[in-house]
Amino acid sequence: MKITVIGAGNVGATTAQRIVDKELANECVLVDILEGIPQGKALDMWESTPVEASDCRISGTNTYKETAKSDIVVITAGLPRKPGMSRDDLLAKNVEIVKGVTEQVVEHSPNAILIVVSNPLDAMAYTALKVSKFPPQRVFGMAGILDTARYRSFIALELNVSTKDISALVLGGHGDTMVPLPRYTMVGGIPLTELLPQERIHAIVERTRMGGGEIVNLLKTGSAYYATSSATVEMVEAVVKDKKRILPCSAYLQGEYGFNNVYLGVPIKIGRKGVEQIFELELSDEEKAALAKSADAVKELIDKIKL
Ligand code: NAI
Ligand code: 2OP
Repeated sequence: MKITVIGAGNVGATTAQRIVDKELANECVLVDILEGIPQGKALDMWESTPVEASDCRISGTNTYKETAKSDIVVITAGLPRKPGMSRDDLLAKNVEIVKGVTEQVVEHSPNAILIVVSNPLDAMAYTALKVSKFPPQRVFGMAGILDTARYRSFIALELNVSTKDISALVLGGHGDTMVPLPRYTMVGGIPLTELLPQERIHAIVERTRMGGGEIVNLLKTGSAYYATSSATVEMVEAVVKDKKRILPCSAYLQGEYGFNNVYLGVPIKIGRKGVEQIFELELSDEEKAALAKSADAVKELIDKIKL
C-alpha cells in the first residue's frame, strides 16, 4: 500500500502523521511546492517511527516521480480560510491548484483512489473528477465525517455523555447550508429528539453549520486540521482495510436524491474500490428542501468552474 498526501500544510502534514502512526501504508509520500517543507516534516515523522513502532516509510518531495503508482492520493493542497473568508472565496485559486495537482497525479498514479480535502470541498472534488476522468467511484471528498464529528462532539458536551455513543449524520455540501439530521441522530440507541428540547437541538445544529468558522475565528491564521485529518484518515483506513464503512462523504451524484452532475455529502459505503454504494435516505419535506438548497449552493460554485 502506497499513499501520497499532496500539500504538506496543517491538514496534509497531520494526515500523513496519522497514516504513519496507524501504519496504514508501507510507504507514504508527502508533496508540496515549498522547498524543504515536505522533506523536513517527513524526516521528522520518520524519526518518530522508532518510538511509534511504525514501519511506514515516509518521505517528502517537491516532485511527483516519487509518488508513482500510489494506491491512494489525498489532496489537501490549496489555500485555507482566514477570518472573514468563506470556503467559497477560495474557489478560483484552489481550482487552479487542484487542477494542476490532479493532472500530475493522473500521470503518475493512473489507478489511484483520490480523496479530496481542499476547499470549497464539493467543488474541488468535482474538479478532481473532471480533470482526472477517473470513474466517480475513485474520486470522493472528505467533509461529512468532519461535520458529523463536530455535531456528535457538541451533543456529547450538551448531554455529558461519551462521544462514542452518538451516531449521527450530516448531509449536503460542506458549507453553511449543510444539513445535520436530528431525526437520524441516536444517543446510545435513544433518539436525540427524546433527550433534548427542540431549541437546544436547533442551537447545536447551528453551531455545527458554523463549526469551521468557529475554529478559523479562534486560530486567525488558518482553519481546522486536527479533526480534519482524523476524518480524512478514517476514509483512508476504510479503503486500505476494505472496511465497508458507511460514512457521510462527498460523492458524485447521478440521479441519487434527484440530483445530477454534482458532488454532495451523502452516506456511502467505502471499501477497497472506493465508493462502493451510495445510500438514499427517506427524507421529510423539510429535510428535502434543506438538501436542495445545499445542492443549489454547490451547483452555483460548479457553474463558475472553467476547466
Ligand atoms: P495550509 O496553508 O496549512 O497548507 C496548504 C499547503 O498546500 C501549503 O503547504 C501549500 O504550500 C500547499 N500547496 C499550495 N499549492 C500547491 C500545489 N500546487 N501543489 C502542492 N502543494 C501546494 O492549509 P491547510 O490548513 O492544510 O488546508 C488545506 C486545504 O484543506 C484548504 O483548502 C482548506 O480550506 C481545506 N480544508 C478542508 C476541510 C474539509 O472539511 N474538507 C477542513 C479543513 C481544511
Ligand atoms: C472546516 O470545516 C474550513 O472547511 C474547513 O474547518
